[in-house]
Amino acid sequence: LDNGEMRVPPMGWLAWERFRCDIDCAHDPKNCIRRVHPTFLSKQAYENLFIDMADRLSEDGWRELGYVYVNIDDCWSSMKRDEQGRLQADPKRFPGGIQKLARYMHDRGLKLGLYGDMGTHTCGGYPGTTLDKIDLDAQTLADWEVDMFKFDGCYSNATEQAKGYPLMSKALNATGRPIGYSCSWPAYQGGLPPKVNYTQLGEICNLWRNYGDIQDSWDSVLNIIDWFSENQAVLAPAAGPGKWNDPDMLIAGDFGLSMEQSRSQMALWAIMAAPLFMSNDLRTISSGARSILQNKMVITINQDAMGIQGRRIVKEKNDINVFWRPLSNNASALVFFSRRTDMPYRYQTTLGKLNYTAGSYMIYDVFTEKTMTLKDSTSFVVSVNPTGVVMWHVSAPAKWNFRQFYKGGRRQ
Ligand code: DGJ
Repeated sequence: LDNGEMRVPPMGWLAWERFRCDIDCAHDPKNCIRRVHPTFLSKQAYENLFIDMADRLSEDGWRELGYVYVNIDDCWSSMKRDEQGRLQADPKRFPGGIQKLARYMHDRGLKLGLYGDMGTHTCGGYPGTTLDKIDLDAQTLADWEVDMFKFDGCYSNATEQAKGYPLMSKALNATGRPIGYSCSWPAYQGGLPPKVNYTQLGEICNLWRNYGDIQDSWDSVLNIIDWFSENQAVLAPAAGPGKWNDPDMLIAGDFGLSMEQSRSQMALWAIMAAPLFMSNDLRTISSGARSILQNKMVITINQDAMGIQGRRIVKEKNDINVFWRPLSNNASALVFFSRRTDMPYRYQTTLGKLNYTAGSYMIYDVFTEKTMTLKDSTSFVVSVNPTGVVMWHVSAPAKWNFRQFYKGGRRQ
């Protein structure tokens, strides 16, 4: 969607995978979806989720790396619209209302995302947005100074969705407030043509969910990686600045993934130019998970300005897969991914075999931070751990860079 938003994949935090629809604040104050008004701040109130995550994002180095969205998902609203028919936040859980929360984010250089549903109800059973409510709800979001809107698709049929998703895009635009627009529409249509029209999606949405919900398990991550790889011929060309495929949230820092698997998810999401929305508890995240999610080079690769979605280029019988993504300035990224479950596998190849043209290249290993130079014809071995990755940033040959440097007149 050409609204000036999300020219690189959006980054931030999203409540759903980790915190779901846990509204039991009485018994589970740390996990529940709430925000208590500052005048009522008690010890428990400090535990409110969105404020806490905003504080962590701004104080623990996340914001500077690009993680700026704090996104509320389902179950935030009251069961009823207000007297004027507008959506309203649950008064107990969000006594300050959504606008105050948005201001809290903006004061810290962060952004607020909100959730709604094209249909009679949200998936969690809260009020949805039927066709007649689209303009009103878009205006409410703008009035509240919301920065991003995820539009889910429960409780509507294909005809309603085909009308509603484009209408919401127009309505958001008409408010004059830049609001990133995330569409769950394709996920409700099976994610593939002919039902899904990727040209149209790119025109009306900034990002879209194409596939099932991620769960806190390696099975789930692997299943998503497979679906996106099997269908890359259709999906990759659809992505670009302002329009991204969304394979769903990052779950590093939760309970289901090992460190290897967390690195694999991060590496492959970067290759796929995927939005990076973490769904984890930033108050208690381990330093291991944090360093994966805060890895500067993997973020740089994800955020590359050309916005080309990478692809799986090798699918070996020995269960090693290689992924490749072209980057700006003739650079590229490679991921060697092991689907094996036995032991570290020594995979041997050459850059030439991976379609690199003749020459010598600078290699930076994203997770070990080691560098080396490699000729296209030189045989090399990478040792890839079970369910893990080796990720490389590959750039133009060192010599060539030096020559450019001298030519630039810095040294006569
Ligand atoms: C389905 C979506 O795909 C999820 O990401 C989440 O938003 C839930 N609905 C909320 O009910």
